[in-house]
Amino acid sequence: MSSRALRQRLESLAMAGVTSLPKRRLRRPQETAAVPTPTSSGPTVAASALAADDRGEALAIIQQEVASCQRCPELAAGRTQTVFGVGPLQPRLCFFGEAPGADEDAAGVPFVGRAGQLLTKIIEACTLSRDEVYILNVLKCRPPGNRRPEPDEVANCRPFFERQFEVLKPEFICCLGATAAQALLDTKASMASLRKQWFDYRGSRVICTYHPSYLLRNPAAKRDVWEDMKLLMAAMGIDVPSR
Ligand code: URA
Repeated sequence: MSSRALRQRLESLAMAGVTSLPKRRLRRPQETAAVPTPTSSGPTVAASALAADDRGEALAIIQQEVASCQRCPELAAGRTQTVFGVGPLQPRLCFFGEAPGADEDAAGVPFVGRAGQLLTKIIEACTLSRDEVYILNVLKCRPPGNRRPEPDEVANCRPFFERQFEVLKPEFICCLGATAAQALLDTKASMASLRKQWFDYRGSRVICTYHPSYLLRNPAAKRDVWEDMKLLMAAMGIDVPSR
């Protein structure tokens, strides 16, 4: 690699929050308030996206930091493992959830329990597959008893999810539930007031919908989520069957 290419690569890694590099090349990670202002414009993803190789390396470094994180002593003591995120390195769409539950804590993969199975159905109803989207959570550790994340826990994990989005630079982010939406958009607004409109998060177009766990308790809200998914798919230029 030329020194110019090396300098550019280091600059782009630094942009992603990677300020030190491991001695050896890391394996890729496991494919491993005010109401915010809605946006009406089209995609504005920054042009300075990382190359796929650099994304894999940058994510692997963040994943290592997450795995050894002790910022929330209660969560670190109770976890089986951290749950970083899963999906392609250049996703058009990220689903952003709240925190791992018991199944995710055991598997190390987000959204694999009952709520995860429902999310998979939603993704497939959109004519996509899980492999085509990136899935991550606000918190990387399971809160005890699956309680809601505390504000200081969200604050502790914020640098991790912000850096994940900085590396992935998805065109679209779908926030699942109020915890994810409020954390990403830095708002206290309710899900009801955040639905059905577009927001911008550092160049990604953001839409918010109910969390699959809420749908398990309130199946009638599935109709609302499907309306939100139709909005999202229309923006992505993906035809979905009418239901
Ligand atoms: N709920 C979430 O928000 N995330 C998961 O990974 C599983 C359940």
